[in-house]
Amino acid sequence: MSPAAVAFFGGKGGVGKTTLAASYALLLAGRAQRVLVVSTDPAHSLGDVLATPLGDEPTELGGGLWACEISGENAARRRVEQVAAEAREAVPREVMPAVHHHLQRAADSPGTVESALVDRLTDLLDEIGDRWDHVVVDSAPTGHMLRLLSLPTLLTPWIEGLSRQRERARGTERMLSGLLGRADQGEDPLLTRLHERRARLERTRDRMLHDSVVHLVLVPERLPLAETERTARSLTEDGLPLGSLAVNRVAPPEATGLLADRAHREAEVRATIHERFREHGVTEVPLLPGALTGRGELAGIAGILAEAGW
Ligand SMILES: Nc1ncnc2c1ncn2[C@@H]1O[C@H](COP(=O)(O)OP(=O)(O)O)[C@@H](O)[C@H]1O
Ligand SMILES: [Mg+2]
Repeated sequence: MSPAAVAFFGGKGGVGKTTLAASYALLLAGRAQRVLVVSTDPAHSLGDVLATPLGDEPTELGGGLWACEISGENAARRRVEQVAAEAREAVPREVMPAVHHHLQRAADSPGTVESALVDRLTDLLDEIGDRWDHVVVDSAPTGHMLRLLSLPTLLTPWIEGLSRQRERARGTERMLSGLLGRADQGEDPLLTRLHERRARLERTRDRMLHDSVVHLVLVPERLPLAETERTARSLTEDGLPLGSLAVNRVAPPEATGLLADRAHREAEVRATIHERFREHGVTEVPLLPGALTGRGELAGIAGILAEAGW
């Protein structure tokens, strides 16, 4: 089966999401696919892992790989600047301080930031099939990722309600225009924008539900396992398909000394993980030496994923 168009890497901070997302992107690019790997984690480290400075716009890294680090804060700020510029054209000067005050409050609210992040991600997902074949998302830690993913679902009914209100208002306007003998003013720009926005969100949601997979990453310890089980459950409830689970930084079973103790402790948790997640597939990635940055180092992990059937 061909891999889903979008692969998310979820899990707690520090478990290896960025490392594995970058390695998986390299693996797909090595199969003659065009791949974008994007970090949505506010604590960006994708650029460090790929040993290249990255920004909001995808950078072409060669060999079919693109990468970028997107930020909800930046996207929200850009949107506020755009709305402020439009308002300067449209409203009297004395109203502008109030407009700025309102926009600033909106810009600072978490809802705006997350919605701007979803918008930015939507832009990039919309280019699947055109600029790239796959998008690999090095997502933020778990709670944030879930809110991010459910946002289109939350916004859709809200936008529908708002559009219906506007349609009714427009109907009245048209009737009055007719009575006054004025020509119809044509399209309602606000309504057109709302419909476009809803269509975009729905496209993203459809893609997330039908052409995406979420790979959860964890380290072989008891508490992370409990948390991963909870995350897996809520992802499944949200209708998101769970992909293979990656158990990262597994101490080599043949280890000696301190590592031997660790390997011994991990054995039991690993057995439980395999039992609980067997149906999804479990891939173990060993604890590796070295800095794990740059293509050469990541190629080893990409090889492990390939061998496990990713
Ligand atoms: N298999 C591994 N063996 C050794 N170190 C690893 C392994 N995977 C990741 N690391 C290291 O662990 C740290 C956290 O990894 P990272 O991918 O940044 O995690 P996350 O994105 O989940 O916060 C990094 O320093 C990374 O190089
Ligand atoms: Mg990371």
